[in-house]
Amino acid sequence: MVKCAGILTAGGDSPGLNAAIRSAVKILLRHNCRTIGYMDGFEGIAFDRTMDLTEKVCSGILTAGGTILHTSRNKPNKMPVGDKLVDMTGAIVENYRKRQLDALICIGGGGTHKSALALAKAGLNIITMPKTIDNDLWGTDDCIGFNTALGVATTAIDNLHSTASSHKRVMLVEIMGHKAGWLALGSGIAGGADVILLPEIPYSTGKVAETLLRRAREGKLFSIVPVAEGALSRENAAKVKELEKLRASAGSKSEKEEIKRKIEEISGINPHRIFELSRTLEKMTNLETRVTILGHLQRGGTPSESDRLLATRLGAAAADCVLKGKFGVMTAIRGGEIQLVPLDEVAGKRKCVPLNHSWMKVARELGVCFGEE
Ligand code: F6P
Repeated sequence: MVKCAGILTAGGDSPGLNAAIRSAVKILLRHNCRTIGYMDGFEGIAFDRTMDLTEKVCSGILTAGGTILHTSRNKPNKMPVGDKLVDMTGAIVENYRKRQLDALICIGGGGTHKSALALAKAGLNIITMPKTIDNDLWGTDDCIGFNTALGVATTAIDNLHSTASSHKRVMLVEIMGHKAGWLALGSGIAGGADVILLPEIPYSTGKVAETLLRRAREGKLFSIVPVAEGALSRENAAKVKELEKLRASAGSKSEKEEIKRKIEEISGINPHRIFELSRTLEKMTNLETRVTILGHLQRGGTPSESDRLLATRLGAAAADCVLKGKFGVMTAIRGGEIQLVPLDEVAGKRKCVPLNHSWMKVARELGVCFGEE
């Protein structure tokens, strides 16, 4: 019997998405399963915007960054329609049935997995693949795109060395990763940074300044400091903790919303924070300091060999799930092997850097300062 599978990419893009699409499509077609691409994330299936995924369409996309299906962060239950947010779950189920899909493959990060689980609960046969340069998805060791972004961030740190050295400056470099420090930690270690600031460890600005001054006294004339975009000072982290307690005990929904807004104001991703840190450190150390924000450069470009390989393996696993009727799972990589993880174990959780992770251990052995007192 001819099967039919839909595929979509949702959330922020990452290098390797096309490799994942190509792998799943090629294998499904070889097994006589038709594939339909849904455009712009969940929007595509909500409004039935599709493209046929043929061999021809998938030819030559292995090395291309981005996603041929485009993407968006719009959620099935909060889809912008005109100036309103509408729950389109019913329409998605209807479109899935109309196209007589046997399965829907969703490739995405944290937000996508929550949406995918909701669609599985609404009765759709869902299979997911993990992708995010943040590498913060629960249940998998690696996510598509992380390795390429790690390469970009490490190259940027490498490139900052010569100019930092010429001018004897402190260079703060903001690294993506949302509220997890994988990218900052990995690129910091690979780039030889002596101070790394992570969301997992609220930092003392005094300790960072002290470390920079000690380095200067020891004749190390420049410093490069990777700062994760989600890193918070101890003071800000304490404020957030207090507000979270208040939020938990708040009575009304509006009160909770207001506190959530305040938390976001302090801890949300905001480039002003790194400029403020730069000014403070400059005042405290008298060392000339500059800021580099890598931003979306980290999400662009050709996927690394490692990401192509991972995406191809995960794509093949997703195709296998379609063919064997294994649904409600994420194809993951654990200890180098492909495994299937139930969606309800993944959705709604964030994989932060464990403080006893082997990367943390080696960094500590090297004397890296995390801004701890
Ligand atoms: O989740 C991936 C990510 O690149 C984060 O690292 C970053 O905080 C966010 O997306 C940026 O999102 P946008 O592309 O919507 O600005």
